[in-house]
Amino acid sequence: MPAVVIIGGQWGDEGKGRVVDFHARYCSMIGRYSAGTNAGHTIMNERGKFALHLVPAGIFYGDKACVIGNGVVIDPDTLLAEIAMLSERGIDTSKLVISDRAHVIMPWHPVIDLADEELRGDSAIGTTGTGTGPAFHDKVARIGIRIGDVVDTERFPARLREVLDYKNRVITGLYQKPALDYDQILNDYREFGEKLRPYVADTTSIVQEAHWRGEMILLEGAQGSLLDLDTGTYPYVTSSVPASVAAGAAIGIGLGPTAIERVVGVYKAYQTRVGNGPMPTELDDEDGVSLREGGGGVPGTSEYGTTTGRARRTGWFDGVLARYTSRINGVTSVALTRLDSLSAFERIKICVAYELDDERVTTLPASLEDANRVKPIYEELPGWKQDVSEVRHLGDLPTEARQYVRRIEQLLDAPVDMISVGPKRHQAIVTRDIFGGRI
Ligand code: GDP
Ligand code: IMO
Ligand code: MG
Repeated sequence: MPAVVIIGGQWGDEGKGRVVDFHARYCSMIGRYSAGTNAGHTIMNERGKFALHLVPAGIFYGDKACVIGNGVVIDPDTLLAEIAMLSERGIDTSKLVISDRAHVIMPWHPVIDLADEELRGDSAIGTTGTGTGPAFHDKVARIGIRIGDVVDTERFPARLREVLDYKNRVITGLYQKPALDYDQILNDYREFGEKLRPYVADTTSIVQEAHWRGEMILLEGAQGSLLDLDTGTYPYVTSSVPASVAAGAAIGIGLGPTAIERVVGVYKAYQTRVGNGPMPTELDDEDGVSLREGGGGVPGTSEYGTTTGRARRTGWFDGVLARYTSRINGVTSVALTRLDSLSAFERIKICVAYELDDERVTTLPASLEDANRVKPIYEELPGWKQDVSEVRHLGDLPTEARQYVRRIEQLLDAPVDMISVGPKRHQAIVTRDIFGGRI
């Protein structure tokens, strides 16, 4: 069976958690392959409402293996809190496995994350402050600590001493912050190690064996392609290595690229972004406020960050960027979310090109300065001005809504196979079976 990757096609928060929770039923294994605690995936199903940062969104089915792959960086405290929260709410976490190769967020990472933001001043990225960026930095700099090190009681003290000596010189010298205490960290991380040990395994072998057995594996992306180091609006990006784009999934879970046959691109029916950086279609008028407050869709689903609670920046659907990320990810199927959140609008705009120095361009320039100067060229479509959250068949959607979906398909050059019309698991319209007869 092929592995299926689910990626975010915009700046994150497209509804990946919700889409994974929906499709996981057709798979026997769900794996996270990149990012860390900076991700925040909201799931609403018959078990309630959940916000997950690290545990794959397939956990609610109980019978699915849920893998946190080698490409993820793990804050042990957050992960243990997440496991405890799930257990308290009656969710079985016994099928969770964590890669011994995954890197660990250590106490110096959030310190450095916040200090770096302070040093950047007006150019601050607007990070989540979770230490995720600095943890990936250490991975690449080859001074990271991995889960396998933390659970190795014999070797961990020496590895911690070695890395902390280096880090304390950086923290006290460059950042002028107090040094961190070795004994305290050793004790805390020994305790984390004890609690996490039962979950830790060589996940690469587990995933590969499942693949050779012919099982359907779902790979859950985090963040969005426009936040990716290579694909995104650099330097206003996140720092995941491997990338969150589909090409990173194979590396971050331990499969070859030929195992991945399908890529589901999750796109919100408009655009949001948290943190700083270019966003050509951003609205600072009342339409932008309306989008943030839910756009007349399902009440209580306004646009505030799952991880930091920050208000999300909002704007019209950017067809230029969406086409670009669809191609970069090799999207074969689109899940379009939050269609209900456009219900308040008389007319809806879609950006189809930009204007830059009196010229029409159809890509976002790499130069930050130019990316900040482009003006969106819009096409206007009629709104549908009615609640669509209870619609379950494409034919029952208002004509204007179907027209909107069709236009997005044309721009992305890929079929919209799932339309989400609400945050709950069943609030979806499935227009094509992408799991080979399994729907
Ligand atoms: P993720 O990071 O991509 O998993 O997305 P988040 O969970 O951070 O943000 C998506 C938000 O939209 C969450 O609050 C979801 O509950 C909500 N959501 C997802 N799909 C829909 C939808 O179709 N309609 C509405 N109204 N809300 C949705
Ligand atoms: P999910 O998986 C939205 C953004 C931050 C910031 C930039 C860098 O929920 O879609 P970082 O802390 O990663 O160094 O911050 O990236 N960011 C996200 N925005 N959704 C996410 O994940 C994000 N993960 C990081 O807001 O702009
Ligand atoms: Mg999110």
